[in-house]
Amino acid sequence: MKTVKQIDIEEKRVLFRVDFNVPLDSQQNITDDTRIRAVLPTLRYALDNRARVIVASHLGRPKGKAVPEMSLAPVSKRLGRLLEQNVKMAPDCIGAEVEAAVAALAPGEVLLLENLRFHPGETANDDDFARALAKLCEVYINDAFAVSHRKNASVEAITGHVPVCGAGFLLQRELEYFRKAMADPQRPLVAIVGGAKVSSKLSALKNMIQHVDKFIVGGAMANTFLRGKGFSLGRSMVEPDLVDAAAEIVRQARERGVKFYLPVDVVAADRMDPKAQVKIVPIQEIPAQWMALDIGPATSLLYSQALYDAKTIVWNGPMGVFEMDAFSRGTTALVHSVANSFALSIVGGGDTDVAIHKSGEADRITYISTGGGAFLQLLEGKRLPAVEALERCG
Ligand code: 3PG
Repeated sequence: MKTVKQIDIEEKRVLFRVDFNVPLDSQQNITDDTRIRAVLPTLRYALDNRARVIVASHLGRPKGKAVPEMSLAPVSKRLGRLLEQNVKMAPDCIGAEVEAAVAALAPGEVLLLENLRFHPGETANDDDFARALAKLCEVYINDAFAVSHRKNASVEAITGHVPVCGAGFLLQRELEYFRKAMADPQRPLVAIVGGAKVSSKLSALKNMIQHVDKFIVGGAMANTFLRGKGFSLGRSMVEPDLVDAAAEIVRQARERGVKFYLPVDVVAADRMDPKAQVKIVPIQEIPAQWMALDIGPATSLLYSQALYDAKTIVWNGPMGVFEMDAFSRGTTALVHSVANSFALSIVGGGDTDVAIHKSGEADRITYISTGGGAFLQLLEGKRLPAVEALERCG
């Protein structure tokens, strides 16, 4: 796979596929621009090298129709501010008008295309749509790690229609950190997995157990493991169908000599509500009508101690319902423990990075991935279709 540095981009029309799928509030204000900032090194490099920069992204899931609330127009303004130069906004992402805007682009100028998913061909990985996009450029660069697990036209089919393609700095960095963490880690390697459901992470759990030295589980998914050990957990969320699968993972951990950590106490509440009654109880004593919504302080201490000798930490998913202050302490405590550790720490997956930013520890984590689904797919041991497509393209 070539990288942008190995390609002559001077004065060339270069299409950068990025992931600007950023959260917007009801007034279309960007509430978190991390994903825009993450590709600035690539775009600045291209501008310094006098490329004609065409930027393409999706935003939300407009299902193949133009939905004004999902326009990338707010992103063009923010990108312009961050790059400190004007970013032109195209009316669409393919077609005659867009081709004319691209033809008018001078070296060192930037054009942002409108939301790729306004066309059904994008998510259908349609060849005609990919060809229409490819027509805009002489060089194609994928710097959209977060959508590289999707077989979408702008990351997959397009590579069959452009003469030259390669990876941007962000994609390169994401893959490199992941390789350091999972394929070639300094040991002990500790995995921390949280979040609501075993079902959404079963493949990742099965794969990770083959690689790690210690495994820490938190969040509601821990309940399914605890049920397998015979605990009655009141009204806590449990996935009964997955109790056996969870028990099998614990069995495999034992067989491989992997230390497996589950909560020993929890923050229990009478309902999932910021104003609920709460108490800290050992795992054996969750009242019948109550539910576990966060790990307790003894568990936080246990998990922190489990990290003391870690050389590599991979973390996906929060320890509790951290959006509500009453149930956020377990996740926050773990953020501090990971930040304090000397290990190479890699965190990925939607909510976990939010918790880290909220705790003010982002600078003390080695690497925070921009990917949710893409990161999870790597944890599952699978390859990313967009990366395979880039490799085929040479
Ligand atoms: C993400 O936010 O995880 C990516 O942009 C992919 O979005 P999608 O899940 O709508 O394909």
